[in-house]
Amino acid sequence: MSNTSSSNPIPDKQKAWRAVKRGTPAEAIRFDKDAPVPSKLKQGEVLVKVQAAALNPVDYKLLGMLPNLIANRPYPMANDIAGVVVASADSKFAVGDEVFGTVWLQAQRKEQQGALAEYVRIAATSIAKRPKDIKPTEAAGISMVAVTASVGLFQHGNLQPGQNVFISGGSTAVGLAAIQFAKAIGCKVTVTGSGPKEEMLRTLGADEFMDYTKGPVYDRLIENPPSPKFDIIFDTVGSVDPKLFSLSEAYLAPDGTFLSVGPQPEGSGKLGQLANFFWTVSRPTWVCGGVNRKLCIFSTSESPEELARVVKFLEEKKFKPAVDSVYSFDQVVEAYNHLMTKRATGKVVIKVDPDVQ
Ligand SMILES: NC(=O)c1ccc[n+]([C@@H]2O[C@H](COP(=O)([O-])OP(=O)(O)OC[C@H]3O[C@@H](n4cnc5c(N)ncnc54)[C@H](OP(=O)(O)O)[C@@H]3O)[C@@H](O)[C@H]2O)c1
Repeated sequence: MSNTSSSNPIPDKQKAWRAVKRGTPAEAIRFDKDAPVPSKLKQGEVLVKVQAAALNPVDYKLLGMLPNLIANRPYPMANDIAGVVVASADSKFAVGDEVFGTVWLQAQRKEQQGALAEYVRIAATSIAKRPKDIKPTEAAGISMVAVTASVGLFQHGNLQPGQNVFISGGSTAVGLAAIQFAKAIGCKVTVTGSGPKEEMLRTLGADEFMDYTKGPVYDRLIENPPSPKFDIIFDTVGSVDPKLFSLSEAYLAPDGTFLSVGPQPEGSGKLGQLANFFWTVSRPTWVCGGVNRKLCIFSTSESPEELARVVKFLEEKKFKPAVDSVYSFDQVVEAYNHLMTKRATGKVVIKVDPDVQ
């Protein structure tokens, strides 16, 4: 391996939570004490000693949906990490660099790498140096949700300073990042959330708040439309009532965009998967037919450009990562059970190194 640390030899075996079959986390992930440590780096990769990892809904969604044949298991669960470079085959990173980033889904399947392990082999283009004032447990959960918010707002939504943005799901981890990014460039931001989250969302920068538990928000938006209309509506929940889009001519500007993280398939039931599949592929025609507004359902993959934008927001103190809870490395199943309640506010983080902050 090129450019390795000689003072801390890299072991052959490691502890890892590996996905071994389709099912719920309790059924389908296994704690291994002798999982292999990657021994060879390709050009452009680094080996990171993981300090902390963070969970995402996509972890349990794909675990519950894909059979081993398609998923190419076993591999360590989860995608987001913070850690220290211990070997490098890339000129931008040296041994000792403190980094954070994501093993993106395609790389996870192809390379059989993942976050819930002591060591991970990862593309240098999927990581960034961790700003000094961000702790590893804070940094671990940044990349997937912040890059998703950034790709949505700036690439698909072409968000401009001063625009009027509506974020459905202000307290999802994606939404928390999206609020801060939109405010950072001087937009007006309206969010939905449940009542107890109002104060926290306003502190982050939300100008207007709508309690989604008090009836359909589209009814209230039709009754009392924003002026000017929203330039962007960003559905960060992925499973909101499709009427938010189908009725959006009343509150979304004619050249505005409705962004959605998309209803991602959930559960291991075959009927549920089928329904989700048809929902995803056919929604634009049978629900959205006749709606004269642009709809963009997107899924995120590696974006060095947006990761760099996220780092800039962090350095300028315009983005503060949110941590819901921190679990130890032996509490991964409990941590997934908590995430699956869909009530977390911020990231659910795992300390892979028990001594890390
Ligand atoms: N397309 C992509 O590439 C991509 C990437 C990342 C994430 N995602 C998807 O984006 C979605 C959000 O992910 P996440 O990690 O940000 O979720 P998360 O943080 O786990 O979401 C939990 C939060 O959602 C809020 N919430 C639940 N239902 C809501 C509703 N109907 N309206 C408004 N808020 C609601 C909850 O608030 P209360 O407890 O107050 O209700 C809670 O604070 C997931 O479906 C995920 O799979 C997609």
